[in-house]
Amino acid sequence: MMDDRIGRLFPAGGPVPADLVIGRTGDIEEIVRRSREAIHTMLTGPRRIGKTTVCAAVCEQLRRDGTVVVDIEVPERTDAKDLLQLVVDRCNRISRSAATRGLLRVALPLIEQTLADQGIPLDLGPLAAQPGLLPTRKILALPLALAEERDRPVVLFLDELQRAADYADGEQLLGDLVDLYSGSTKVVVLVDGSDERALDGMLGAPPQFGKLVDRLILDPRISADIWRAGLAERFVQADLELQPEALEQLIDFGEGRPYPTMTAARYAALGARKLGSATVEAFDVQMAIDEARRHLAEDDHA
Ligand SMILES: Nc1ncnc2c1ncn2[C@@H]1O[C@H](COP(=O)(O)OP(=O)(O)OP(=O)(O)O)[C@@H](O)[C@H]1O
Ligand SMILES: [Mg+2]
Repeated sequence: MMDDRIGRLFPAGGPVPADLVIGRTGDIEEIVRRSREAIHTMLTGPRRIGKTTVCAAVCEQLRRDGTVVVDIEVPERTDAKDLLQLVVDRCNRISRSAATRGLLRVALPLIEQTLADQGIPLDLGPLAAQPGLLPTRKILALPLALAEERDRPVVLFLDELQRAADYADGEQLLGDLVDLYSGSTKVVVLVDGSDERALDGMLGAPPQFGKLVDRLILDPRISADIWRAGLAERFVQADLELQPEALEQLIDFGEGRPYPTMTAARYAALGARKLGSATVEAFDVQMAIDEARRHLAEDDHA
């Protein structure tokens, strides 16, 4: 049965599930095509416009035709240690699950083998206590081992990579990524980020991340026509009748901006549910827009 809960149908904050993405088909196809051609991509744009949503949809599509996806949200930290632990964890999990499903040509999961051969523990904690001991490059190379193990293309998706530019060892980390993957066609790097200044820093002066990735700019807006169709369908999925005038109000308020549009639509749907009403009228949307405005203002201060 279809899940018609408001929280799922009107996601406000965080990536939208692939089956609920409104518009963006051109961007998604373009990045999928680039990735298949082994072109590393950096998707940029302001906050909250759907960058992670687009990248996640790309990963989903690539996964469906057999690409192995290593997706990691780059943590906000002072150094690379936790990010490297995530790389170890993700790669190891993917490798082990492939082994369980009998997909490997060898008996032992290669990631575990590789780590053991190189004297890298699964828990980096003890190594991380002594700065300089972390085998950054070897860990960042694990996706290459995955590609070899599975004999499949691998996509390494690093969400919010600009956070790494602030790491004490960020320059080394980014430099290693450039060195490891610039010439690689087996592992394709997909990154996104929103902090323009940090990104410019990354792309320009050392480590010259621009040598690795091609930058693609995501439009902060999705056209009114696409929203019209998308929102109309969404309210139907929620078993709510959105009156034409109410729809236009949402469109006008949103001005094409994904997050404000979705937030107002969510409040409108919630309001109708609260009232036990099956119809969403202009008045309801006006209330929802006021609520969305307050919410967005708080968000901006956070
Ligand atoms: N294509 C879309 N369809 C529907 N809603 C969207 C779409 N893109 C973005 N949104 C709305 O914007 C919100 C933020 O999306 P997402 O997290 O993908 O953006 P982002 O640019 O990665 O944000 P951040 O800068 O916080 O990382 C979503 O929760 C949703 O409300
Ligand atoms: Mg994001």
